[in-house]
Amino acid sequence: MHDDAALLSAQVQAELDTIKGWFFPSDRRIFSWLLARQTELGVHGNLVELGSYLGKSAVLIGDYVQPGETFTVLDLFEGETSDAGNAAEQVDSYATLTEQRFAENYLRFHPQLPTVVRDVSSVIVDRVPAGSCRFVHVNASHLYDHVAVDVDSARTLLGEQGIVAFDDYRSEHCPGVAAAVWEGVLDKGLQVIGVSENKLYATWGDPEPWRTALLEWLTDDQNAWGQRLAVYDQSIVRAKAWFPRAMPPPPAPAPRPVAAPTPAKAPAVAPSAPGSGASGPSAPGARRPVAESAPAKAGAAGQPAEDVRREGRVKHLAKDLLPPVVSRHLARGLRARRR
Ligand SMILES: C[S@@+](CC[C@H](N)C(=O)[O-])C[C@H]1O[C@@H](n2cnc3c(N)ncnc32)[C@H](O)[C@@H]1O
Repeated sequence: MHDDAALLSAQVQAELDTIKGWFFPSDRRIFSWLLARQTELGVHGNLVELGSYLGKSAVLIGDYVQPGETFTVLDLFEGETSDAGNAAEQVDSYATLTEQRFAENYLRFHPQLPTVVRDVSSVIVDRVPAGSCRFVHVNASHLYDHVAVDVDSARTLLGEQGIVAFDDYRSEHCPGVAAAVWEGVLDKGLQVIGVSENKLYATWGDPEPWRTALLEWLTDDQNAWGQRLAVYDQSIVRAKAWFPRAMPPPPAPAPRPVAAPTPAKAPAVAPSAPGSGASGPSAPGARRPVAESAPAKAGAAGQPAEDVRREGRVKHLAKDLLPPVVSRHLARGLRARRR
């Protein structure tokens, strides 16, 4: 298990947020846990990312590459693609992407670049030896035809204890990813280890030891939460994890009054002590605790679990029953009370 200091330095939380991208705290922590655990267990192999964009997830994966392992990132970058749907994705979502910008970002964190391939994702099986990988991150095109090929490529590339992570497996803007991934489960022997809000983690090896260990980690770590869910004949893990919030510095001691001609009035509101439940300024890049905290544990800012639950219930009720203008006002009041 990581301690908090190691976790923050390994995952370069604030610095990683200087790179634009779609790689959120739950998955950053799950990637780190999976990649570190593979190494702890002696699982050795190459790492591949299909779709790196500006390098947000690649930088973190790069933290875990071991001697003798290769890391290959593949992206179209500013290159051409052959089909119109994929070309439209590029224009709509990644118009300013260049390989140069990826490289500049990556080199801010690592002394050298991974192997970079500028091409469509289907060529990956010609660039990395079959069966040589321990980790493949599939995050390139979101169209069914492409992702179905990426599922096959991951199967070809992964070794026995290899793990594949699929991005956007359940988003409304890309049903083709969901179709290709669940087709992998139903028709291609893919075994799901677990799901987060944005990614699905799976293997063609034995999933059960990974599920058990993942759930154990999520349960033991105070900044994580997990449960088992059943889908088809598989008992998979639902996972959430977040970053511990940095403590604000303690308040400077107030100067002692020298002489008081008249008795001083007690302040209307006492200054809050660190850890008292009142939230201080967030660390740069920290996620809002409500978004990332889970129901059964204390909030990421140390807010007692019961308070978090009560606030959640009030918010839901307000949203369901009150006109938007009133519920917004109520939410503002709740936020002010927490400050
Ligand atoms: C969602 S972004 C990747 C996000 C990145 N992994 C991160 O964490 O920030 C998808 C990337 O896939 C690339 N891409 C789209 N279609 C592709 C294809 N057919 N082959 C390879 N890369 C593709 C895009 O250029 C884009 O950079």
